[in-house]
Amino acid sequence: MFFTIHVLCASLATLVGAKYIVPGARWLDTDGNLVNAHAGCITTDPDTGRFYLFGEYKVEGQVEGGGVSVYSSDDLATWEHHGQALQPIEGHPYISPQNVIQRPKVVWSDASKQYHMWWHADNSTYGLLLQGLATADTISGPYTFLSATAPLGNWSQDFGMFTDYKDGRSYALYSNGDRKEGRDVYLTSYNEEVSALDSVVHRFDKYDLEAPTIIQTDKSYYALMSHKTGYRPNNVVVFRADSLAGPWSQPSFVSPLNTRTFNSQSGFALRINGSAQTTFLYIGDQWDSNSLWESRYIWLPMHIDDDKKTLEIEWHDIYDLDVHTGKWKAIRGRSYYAHDAKVNGNAFKQEASFASGNTIVTGIYGNDSTVTFEGIEGTGKPQWVSFYYQNTDDMGFGDQPGGSPDRIGGTWQLRRISSVVVNGDEDNVQTLFQRDTHKSIILSTPLLLNLNKGKNNNITVGGLYNGFDYKGADLDRIVVYPPEAASNGTKW
Ligand SMILES: *[C@@H]1O[C@H](CO)[C@@H](O)[C@H](O)[C@H]1NC(C)=O
Ligand SMILES: *[C@@H]1O[C@H](CO)[C@@H](O)[C@H](O)[C@H]1NC(C)=O
Ligand SMILES: *[C@@H]1O[C@H](CO)[C@@H](O)[C@H](O)[C@H]1NC(C)=O
Ligand SMILES: *[C@@H]1O[C@H](CO)[C@@H](O)[C@H](O)[C@H]1NC(C)=O
Ligand SMILES: *[C@@H]1O[C@H](CO)[C@@H](O)[C@H](O)[C@H]1NC(C)=O
Ligand SMILES: *[C@@H]1O[C@H](CO)[C@@H](O)[C@H](O)[C@H]1NC(C)=O
Repeated sequence: MFFTIHVLCASLATLVGAKYIVPGARWLDTDGNLVNAHAGCITTDPDTGRFYLFGEYKVEGQVEGGGVSVYSSDDLATWEHHGQALQPIEGHPYISPQNVIQRPKVVWSDASKQYHMWWHADNSTYGLLLQGLATADTISGPYTFLSATAPLGNWSQDFGMFTDYKDGRSYALYSNGDRKEGRDVYLTSYNEEVSALDSVVHRFDKYDLEAPTIIQTDKSYYALMSHKTGYRPNNVVVFRADSLAGPWSQPSFVSPLNTRTFNSQSGFALRINGSAQTTFLYIGDQWDSNSLWESRYIWLPMHIDDDKKTLEIEWHDIYDLDVHTGKWKAIRGRSYYAHDAKVNGNAFKQEASFASGNTIVTGIYGNDSTVTFEGIEGTGKPQWVSFYYQNTDDMGFGDQPGGSPDRIGGTWQLRRISSVVVNGDEDNVQTLFQRDTHKSIILSTPLLLNLNKGKNNNITVGGLYNGFDYKGADLDRIVVYPPEAASNGTKW
């Protein structure tokens, strides 16, 4: 029965056509709920080729306790929820609702003929620093808790897992905590059953990094890790080696400097061995420390050049990926610039050498200091619109809650929220979260909007209250994308 449903989904997906992947959007599952599976992994069912997304299930208003959720998909864009793969158990020493169950990874153990789930098992003050193991006969579980152990006697914090496609061997990656004696990232092989660790293959010594993952090409291994800034993103780095034992290269950045890896943290990477090409996806988290359960996902293609020995993550607002051929293409949209837009109230255009046409619109505030983009062409179908913005709150308001990570003693929070109104329809105000960027760094964040068919749409952006202020972020431009049905290259 289960099998039949999967086959049906596969044919349905083929009929409807590939779906867009929209990094940073609110991703809804097939029931219309937010996809809630953070810092996890994607495991492919070897029999059906279906993708299973496992991740931390975040309960609204809580940091710990949600267990591990599981979703499945044939195209990496449409996700069906299968509930909890690992359910917290009240009073349990390692998987109670008060425990930390982080960064779950799932692999098939051919020796035990079961799926094995491993994760960072801890208490809420990170005093245990263990690795949990649970097993299941079917990929979506439910998984049964087996153990929580210290890896070869050491500490284990952020956890990753990697399986080498050349010999099927699996490895654990873990940072050994924040203490001065720790601050390493270990790469350690599993036994054949993937039921216990075997021996240390390499130690990334004293780099003080976390959120590790490895991606493999025919010639190289690339290990991605983030710095340690909690739920606030930073510039992720990559190490390269010919073999897992090393020698490993020096770390280098994977994205344009100060974009903080397009506002995301590393955690997993997916290799798609397509019939036409191999595609490598960065599977990152865009944490929202104000509301962890609403944290979003930044999945992007990685450009790997094994001759130059480089790996770069490429930003695309939207791309269309065919998981069978491995081919993907960035969707092209039409830009409407803030320097051509109409400013209202105290919003104004300011010289900015890093912005489009040397101009950015700033002073967006509340509902009377707004900017209106006019003459926007729409199709009458829901369309993704990306808002390119700058939010420099990282350097201001040091004495206020939520200000200044780039200042001694500073903390970070999502600071600005804009209102987006289409064609003056004040009854349908859309909420646009604009995380801090950096001075002169412009990033984008998307919303799905309903524009009328024709060229006379307008979009007005103002500021909404974020707990501190009514300030909207500065705007550079918006990019309006064709609806998914027209992703066949047809000019629109
Ligand atoms: C977590 O475990 C450590 C080590 O056993 C202990 O010192 C600490 O009190 C524990 N924290 C909580 C919240 O139980
Ligand atoms: C863990 O490893 C570090 C070095 O990476 C070492 O200094 C420390 O003693 C080890 N801790 C334990 C508990 O084995
Ligand atoms: C990639 O897929 C092809 C079949 O499409 C298979 O023959 C090949 O072994 C796969 N390669 C790897 C490295 O998984
Ligand atoms: C306009 O914004 C002000 C705060 O600047 C707020 O008090 C008022 O409720 C808003 N009005 C509407 C109609 O949203
Ligand atoms: C935006 O469109 C609405 C509906 O067509 C119209 O009432 C309004 O005047 C327009 N606003 C601007 C600033 O063009
Ligand atoms: C592509 O999609 C558009 C919009 O759905 C349609 O009008 C057009 O005929 C399609 N073109 C091709 C070549 O399939």
